[in-house]
Amino acid sequence: MGELVLAAKVTHVPSMFISEQDGPHHGCRDAAIEGLKRIGNLCKEREVDTIIIADTHWLVNAGFHINAKPDMSGIFTSTEFPHFLSNMSYKHIGDPELGQLIAECATNNGVPTLCHYEVDTLDVQYGTLVPLRYMGIEDDIKVVSIAGWMYDAELEESKALGEAIRQAIEKSDKRVAFLASGSLSHRIPPNKIVGDYLFKISRPFNQSVDLMVLDLWQRGQVNEFLDMLPKYAKDCDGEGGMHDTSMLFGLLGWRDYEGCAEIYTDYFPSSGTGQCNVVFPVI
Ligand SMILES: [Fe+2]
Repeated sequence: MGELVLAAKVTHVPSMFISEQDGPHHGCRDAAIEGLKRIGNLCKEREVDTIIIADTHWLVNAGFHINAKPDMSGIFTSTEFPHFLSNMSYKHIGDPELGQLIAECATNNGVPTLCHYEVDTLDVQYGTLVPLRYMGIEDDIKVVSIAGWMYDAELEESKALGEAIRQAIEKSDKRVAFLASGSLSHRIPPNKIVGDYLFKISRPFNQSVDLMVLDLWQRGQVNEFLDMLPKYAKDCDGEGGMHDTSMLFGLLGWRDYEGCAEIYTDYFPSSGTGQCNVVFPVI
């Protein structure tokens, strides 16, 4: 029987890429990079076969979608932040077997989901590629990327997809990590001033709520968090509507989950948004 061996909420800010480069921002995201490296090391220590990533940069308009194409290699430039993230090479391999099993379980549970593994031109988005880069993962561990930005789906549907992901993992023979790749609050400031906000939050209110959420997660107050999740996602502009987070808690057991999260990178603002790396014990 397969096993979920790691679950985490992770950042994918493209400023990590400029942090790597020489120049005025060199080293500016060291803490985020270090947190992802530690999560990558955990994947290796726990002998993970496949990493599933709910990617809030993959927007879908109809149904849930999975990218599990065998050859996930190429060179990526962000269309949103080309000045931060350009010509990033990557080399990953998909896991069509697990991707199809997830789609089958989800569809059987009433959440129509398609797994794409024969469409070579279906690009992988940076919510998947950036965390993997800093985790130090290439083709040593397989990848399943799941669209985590649903245009008009209910969070309940993403919860059900998370539950189906757990079922599929347990039906498989694999050791699996799940990453919810998205921010906490996600209000990018207006264009005229966004350049001043690389290291600042857009609204103090958002930061206060983000910190409260992290506190709830660390104390294992899952019910309190789930009660506020729909309003939090809306009022604080949660990235991708926080469907990645809904999948994460669906996977972990929703209101039955009693784990206390561990912070791997302290909360930090980036281009107005609230970011973190947090590991949730699998119980
Ligand atoms: Fe993002």
